[in-house]
Amino acid sequence: MTIPAFNPLLVDPTAPIGVLDSGWGGLSVLKALRQELPLEDFVYCADCARAPWGDKPSTWIVERCRQICRMLVAQGVKSIVLACNTATAEAADSLRATMSLPIIGIEPAVKPAAARSKTLSIGVLATTRTIQSARYCSLVARFANDAVVHSVAAPGLMECVERGDFDGPETMALLHHYLDPLREAGVDKLVLGCTHYPFLADAITSIMGDRVELIEPGHAVAAVTRRRLEQNNTLRAANAAPSVRFFVSGAREHSGVLNRLWAGAACVEELVL
Ligand code: DGL
Repeated sequence: MTIPAFNPLLVDPTAPIGVLDSGWGGLSVLKALRQELPLEDFVYCADCARAPWGDKPSTWIVERCRQICRMLVAQGVKSIVLACNTATAEAADSLRATMSLPIIGIEPAVKPAAARSKTLSIGVLATTRTIQSARYCSLVARFANDAVVHSVAAPGLMECVERGDFDGPETMALLHHYLDPLREAGVDKLVLGCTHYPFLADAITSIMGDRVELIEPGHAVAAVTRRRLEQNNTLRAANAAPSVRFFVSGAREHSGVLNRLWAGAACVEELVL
C-alpha cells in the first residue's frame, strides 16, 4: 500500500506532539522535549499494563507500537517521538514506512561515547531486545571506531523504575550484577540505552564512581525534534497554557508512580487498545 506523502502545509502547528514508551522511562525524554519546546502541547502514552517491552518478540513490539501510533494520530498529533530505544530499534523503520507523519526515534548514544572515551572502553546498558537488534549491531559497527563496546542487556531494571524503586536493595543488587563487570573493565563512558535508566543515574554513579560519564540522548532527541518542526514550519508560535495529556494502560494501578515522577500530572486517561 502506498502511503500519502507527508505535506507540512496541511499540518496545524497548534497540534500536539505524541510521545510513547512502554512506561515511565519516556518521561526522561518528555522532560527534555518540554525544555526544548516550551510552547508545545504533548500527548504521552505509557503502556504500563503491558510493560516491559524489552523482553517481548520483535513482531509484538512492532504491532503494539503501530496500535499506539494510530491512537496518537487519531488524537491529531503533528509528529511522534518514540521515547523508547526498544521501540526505535524494532519498529521505527516499519512505522516510518507505513505512516506519513514525522517519527523521531532514540538510539543508544554509542557514537558520542566512543568519540569521547579516553580509555577506549565504553559500556552500554539497554534492554535485551535493543542489544540483540540489527539496528544496534549496525550502530556499534559504524560508530565504535577503536573503542571496545561492552554491551549489557539488563532485564529487570525497567521494572524497578516502574515501581518507583530507584535505589532500594533489589535495585542496587541488580545494578551491581550488571555494572560491577563494567567497572572492572575500566569503562569511562556508560551509555544509558533505555529511557528508564536516567531515573537510576544517582544509584549507577554510586556504583561506577563519578569519573564515569553517563550518557543519555534525551536532549539530543529534543533538539532533533525541534529541527524537524522548524524545517516543516510546524513549530508552535504561542501557547498560553502548554499542556501534557497522559494516556496510560492500567492507569488506576500505575498513576501513583506517575505522580511521583511528574509533579502536577493532572490529565490522566486510560489507554484502551
Ligand atoms: N524505555 C524502554 C527503552 O528505552 C523500554 C523498556 C522496556 O519496556 O523494556 O528501551
